[in-house]
Amino acid sequence: MQAAAQSSHAGVAPAVREFVGKRRHQMLIDGKWVDAASGKTFATVDPATEEPLAQIPSGDKEDIDRAVRAARRAFEAGPWKQMTPSQRGRALWKLADLIEARTEEFAQLETLDNGKPLSVARVADIPLVVDHFRYYAGWATKVEGETIPVSVPGMLTYTLREPVGVVGQIIPWNFPLLMAAWKLGAALACGNTVVLKPAEQTPLSALRLGELLDEAGIPPGVVNIVTGFGETAGAALSTHPEVDKVAFTGSGEVGKEVMRAAAGTLKRVSLELGGKSPNIVFSDADLDQAAEGAAAAIYFNHGQCCCAGSRLFIEQKAYDKVMPRLVEYSQNIKLGPGMDPETQMGPLVSSEQFDRVNSFLASGKKSGAKVATGGGRPQQFTKGYFVAPTVFTDVKPDMSIVRDEIFGPVVCAIPFKDPEEVIKAGNETTYGLAAAVWTKDIQKAHRIAQGLKAGTVWINCYNAFDAAAPFGGYKQSGFGREMGKAALELYTQIKTVWVNVGTSA
Ligand code: NAI
Ligand code: MG
Repeated sequence: MQAAAQSSHAGVAPAVREFVGKRRHQMLIDGKWVDAASGKTFATVDPATEEPLAQIPSGDKEDIDRAVRAARRAFEAGPWKQMTPSQRGRALWKLADLIEARTEEFAQLETLDNGKPLSVARVADIPLVVDHFRYYAGWATKVEGETIPVSVPGMLTYTLREPVGVVGQIIPWNFPLLMAAWKLGAALACGNTVVLKPAEQTPLSALRLGELLDEAGIPPGVVNIVTGFGETAGAALSTHPEVDKVAFTGSGEVGKEVMRAAAGTLKRVSLELGGKSPNIVFSDADLDQAAEGAAAAIYFNHGQCCCAGSRLFIEQKAYDKVMPRLVEYSQNIKLGPGMDPETQMGPLVSSEQFDRVNSFLASGKKSGAKVATGGGRPQQFTKGYFVAPTVFTDVKPDMSIVRDEIFGPVVCAIPFKDPEEVIKAGNETTYGLAAAVWTKDIQKAHRIAQGLKAGTVWINCYNAFDAAAPFGGYKQSGFGREMGKAALELYTQIKTVWVNVGTSA
């Protein structure tokens, strides 16, 4: 790896060096590693150095078509169909074991490709991936139908819960392997076959995952991985007539496009889109915990989280106590390349995201908001997509920085007077992905949780996740729930079987 030889990549494991650098990257279709039909490639870039890491095949319509046909064959006729639920469960469990044994390798791939600190990828991304596959391994044997006590004499009526078929999964770059796991776990547990399209910014960990499928016992064609851009590979997947369902995580704008494209053949659609999540701190909270929690809520993964706590509502009485702590916390975060063990916050994922976040910073300043701390790339960096943790104050509800998803380490602090006011203000958004409330008053906490229109509400915590706990959006944050038992709904359909058993014995 050329780039790995550079100083910011000290500590890259030999296996990672070899995977990223020496191998000619190909995509996985029908169990075979292949180039794009066009022969085209694109570079994935290290956001800490802005240098290319590797050349990746640029999949397009023809590649998607091959992958979908392979997934169709595997679904209708392949060994996958003959495998018992128990065998499917064991394959998912084995996949989890194989990933777990390579935790360091996968963590380094995520850090190089996405920019996140290695320390975070090691303890958050990869363990959550492993746990996710184990959780759905357990579900493979528990996808049950029901018997229905119908009122038609002589009838035995039952339901079967069957897989949907060929599933297209389009995922983003913020948690590359974890988003792949969220999509693959439930789909495979339920017996579907998949064409996965990783984000063009971060394809490496999904390709490495693809190398483990065979050893896990997942037959060829069951998971196909087509790398490429959204407008080409992604669009081809969401329009392909042989795809039964599309699952998408990403921007609202593309979510709408995916839905329109899926309408052509009435594919099932599930969408996990963005957010502008309210994080509400009352004066009766443990204010040290709440201030630190508020920082973690926005700065985790550099704010590149769909559930980032980007609107921080602070009760007026506590505003002057919380703000200095938040500002101090923000200023003490150590920015640097993800591979540096000292780093607490890495660069944003790409030049596009860097420009996007900077244009929000400019818009905030222009519209009259005050910058309490941060506000751009710190001066010590001349390269890399670094943005300092930023707190805006004196904001107004109609400002773009308050209304739109920034997807960077930028939070708007907003004072409020009472619970009713903050529920109303919290819900004043087109999004509804997540929310949090910090208070020691148990009644108030639950009342606020009931009042907020969001798919997840955290009380005295933020960013708590578990494979067993459903996650997804209200309003324009999307629909369908990933994780937990709820995700089985996305990947199964119900068949009702009527049996005439007669009325006499
Ligand atoms: P995006 O929505 O364009 O990309 C997400 C995925 O969709 C990628 O795999 C991309 O290749 C694919 N895609 C793009 N256009 C497509 C199309 N026409 N048809 C099918 N697939 C398509 O997100 P992008 O451009 O990377 O980021 C823009 C903003 O989106 C971010 O600033 C953030 O606000 C939001 N976002 C939200 C995420 C979430 O977790 N909900 C994740 C990533 C981005
Ligand atoms: Mg885009």
